[in-house]
Amino acid sequence: MTAEILDGKAFAARIRGQVADHVGRLKSAHGLTPGLAVVLVGSDPASEVYVRSKGKMTREVGMNSFEHRLPETTDEKTLLGLLDDLNEDPAVHGILVQLPLPGHMNESNIINRVDPAKDVDGFHILNVGLLATGQKAMVPCTPLGCLMMLRDRLGDLSGLDAVVVGRSNIVGKPMAQLLLRDSCTVTIAHSRTREIEAKCRAADILVAAVGRAELITGDWIKPGATVIDVGINRIPAPERGEGKTRLVGDVHFPSAAAVAGAITPVPGGVGPMTIACLLANTLTACCRANGLKEPEGLTA
Ligand code: GUN
Repeated sequence: MTAEILDGKAFAARIRGQVADHVGRLKSAHGLTPGLAVVLVGSDPASEVYVRSKGKMTREVGMNSFEHRLPETTDEKTLLGLLDDLNEDPAVHGILVQLPLPGHMNESNIINRVDPAKDVDGFHILNVGLLATGQKAMVPCTPLGCLMMLRDRLGDLSGLDAVVVGRSNIVGKPMAQLLLRDSCTVTIAHSRTREIEAKCRAADILVAAVGRAELITGDWIKPGATVIDVGINRIPAPERGEGKTRLVGDVHFPSAAAVAGAITPVPGGVGPMTIACLLANTLTACCRANGLKEPEGLTA
């Protein structure tokens, strides 16, 4: 079997198109423009790239983008004060504090200062609890993107066996909650899981989010399974020249693609979906804040 490649880049472009259409209607019918505030503390190069890209795509779908760049040495009180201002600002519907934060800051304090209704990352403890209890929440962007791709490929997920490899708060745990909400039978596997290969081999849906380059090989995969690879790992690529590197996922793509029914590539799979879902969440937050109907197909 050769797996169908799930093109996240094309899917994300489609989602952004739907968001842009919805934003256009909000403007013309209600005079509303959704606004996303992104806060970056320090100058981590990877974070800089993400924040620039988020700003560009926010503007491209017709939303307002507010960028706040603070120096590495900013104290926690100053950042909390900025978040209080953004929470109060009616032009801001979504707030994202780019992680990681500098070491002197308490990440939980910061995340939980964001108004839960504007928490487009879905990291606030209230949203975590709402998701876990099956209530209306803001849902973390990467797992939301994975869910959209799975629903698009498989339709109704009810009754399917899903294994999530990885138990992070950002991906693994919320992914498991979303799959459970869609009535999958869910297993969370991690570094201490016994007979992990056999457990993965029983999965109709396998989501890899461990951050270990090419850990999951074809012999871990059930023939025909749908494989979602969230990992982004940079490994040496001497075949490309001295000192060169390349990006790979947590799944060994060539062997997995020979067994799976469908698989996301790295790059070009889940990655582009994350920002598309951030925009979808901002739109959702704007609709909820104004008592308007939520966009269909763009929420969990
Ligand atoms: N840094 C890396 N990924 C993320 C994310 O999804 N949200 C935030 N806020 N920071 C990140």
